[in-house]
Amino acid sequence: MAEFTLPKNSRIKEGTAWPKPEGAKTLTEFRIYRWNPDDGENPKIDTYWVDREHCGPMILDGLIYIKNEIDSSLTFRRSCREGICGSCSMNINGANTLACTKGMDEVGENVIKIYPLPHMPVIKDLVPDLSTFYNQVNLIEPFLKTSTAPPEKEWAQSPEDRDKLDGLYECILCACCSTSCPSYWWNGEKYLGPAALLQAYRWMIDSRDEGLAERLDTLEDPFRLYRCHTIMNCANVCPKGLNPAAAIVEIKKLMQEREV
Ligand code: SF4
Ligand code: SF4
Ligand code: FES
Repeated sequence: MAEFTLPKNSRIKEGTAWPKPEGAKTLTEFRIYRWNPDDGENPKIDTYWVDREHCGPMILDGLIYIKNEIDSSLTFRRSCREGICGSCSMNINGANTLACTKGMDEVGENVIKIYPLPHMPVIKDLVPDLSTFYNQVNLIEPFLKTSTAPPEKEWAQSPEDRDKLDGLYECILCACCSTSCPSYWWNGEKYLGPAALLQAYRWMIDSRDEGLAERLDTLEDPFRLYRCHTIMNCANVCPKGLNPAAAIVEIKKLMQEREV
């Protein structure tokens, strides 16, 4: 297989090629984006070799191996390693996904190339600044909104109404979808993006929620909702198998229904 090289005009430079672990028989090559705001240098790509006999099978295992055994300065987010917390999202061989649920053998290439989520400011190495993303999720008010008096025990929901939340409640806010959406790349400050909109729809169709009109008002704006052009990158990358584009279409229908 041809060796991976950066394009000649790339502003990202070749970084350190770390030595192969001594005595390792089965190795996997990792090429990882590095940027440190404190050293004044341009971003670079470091090369590491992971000893597969002393490392778990997932890409997050490889990153943890590198941090523990080779280069403790490598910085990335992770917590649950179960695909639940959404913190280890990154761009792996060209696709946004979770490092903890992606196997090293699943990427289909000999070299594993890892970058931070695209089109986001970088804090360090593989850690993007998700402040705008979280502010957008806050804006849609991801919680039950009610105006009637609270019931004595709890807000009840029929099994049928609960089923309507399937395909929505599973979202872990990893931002893989929003950061793969071209509309979000170009209008990320104004367009809310697929993740926040999927969350908005999740609350709109919750039978216990009484804030639909307000929720639709929040999205009544030329950018917040209507910049989705149904390109479908969001549904293609979601590591939980969700379809934010379909949720966005449903919100647009709710908007139309209240206008007639
Ligand atoms: S379908 Fe909409 S939200 Fe999904 S990637 Fe395309 S433009 Fe973005
Ligand atoms: S919809 Fe999927 S990709 Fe988007 S934030 Fe939720 S879990 Fe992540
Ligand atoms: S570490 Fe929690 S989703 Fe990957």
